[in-house]
Amino acid sequence: MSEPKVIRKDQLIISEEEIGGHLDELVDKIVLGDCFSVLPKLPAEIADMIFVDPPYNLQLPPKKLIRWSGTVVNGVEDRWDRFGSFADYDAFTERWLSEVKRVMKPSATIWVIGTYHNIFRIGRIMQDLGYWILNDVIWLKTNPVPNFLRVRFTNGTETLIWAIKDKEAKGYTFNHEWAYKFGYGKVGANVWELPLCAGNERLRDEQGQKIHSTQKPEKLLERVILTSTKPGDFVLDPMAGTCTTGRVAKKFGRRFLMIEKEKKYVEAAAKRLSLSKTLPGNND
Ligand SMILES: C[S@@+](CC[C@H](N)C(=O)[O-])C[C@H]1O[C@@H](n2cnc3c(N)ncnc32)[C@H](O)[C@@H]1O
Repeated sequence: MSEPKVIRKDQLIISEEEIGGHLDELVDKIVLGDCFSVLPKLPAEIADMIFVDPPYNLQLPPKKLIRWSGTVVNGVEDRWDRFGSFADYDAFTERWLSEVKRVMKPSATIWVIGTYHNIFRIGRIMQDLGYWILNDVIWLKTNPVPNFLRVRFTNGTETLIWAIKDKEAKGYTFNHEWAYKFGYGKVGANVWELPLCAGNERLRDEQGQKIHSTQKPEKLLERVILTSTKPGDFVLDPMAGTCTTGRVAKKFGRRFLMIEKEKKYVEAAAKRLSLSKTLPGNND
């Protein structure tokens, strides 16, 4: 068996083959690879917080949605969002939820975000695997995509599940001042009002097309990271897309490891992260 290559400190992207199991070498990196082969190579109990924004399994019908104005709605039609059946999606979900549990510290928390298409299935599987749900947080979108067909409510929310590894897990981080500040109304309830990712924040290619169909807003990740981690904590995202999680972790002086299997997202994310700065006062 060949020895894993030495990873340079300034190297941002690493391949699955380069992972040697030393935590120091994995800090502040993006792994280009499939999380099902990468996660088993990681040392156990390394992560303080896990954020997962998995495929939604939207099961969109093979027809175009046209706005009244005549423009086409860009749904999530990517290959990575297609599963053969609910059973296939459940098997996929159970697999990654089991893999990430092993790399969570006993005091770690996990956030999983989804829509009505997948979040109920994920919640059930989390409970069946022994995760203990602390909260759900509703992301109320201030600028949701309208319902053009007018046959159902406009879907203007996503749900985040926040959980610990098991019911007995102790010592997790909860920064209640931030939670109170971000939450809804006088009691700081579990509803976050935020717009979709747009403007300069949205990564686009040379033709002006979105690089990723489901890039999350940085403000959402700011709330996740500030409420549930401390400076220096190790944050893992196993399906990282454009690495919004890594960018915000870096901004607030948290360490990160991102995993993503699509090269075009990893390349865009690397560019994005190399331009990101840690805010003053978050360096320790
Ligand atoms: C909903 S998107 C995440 C978007 C991300 N939060 C962002 O802000 O850009 C889900 C991502 O999971 C990735 N993915 C799906 N299966 C994967 C796997 N087995 N290993 C690694 N990445 C995977 C997809 O390529 C996709 O980019």
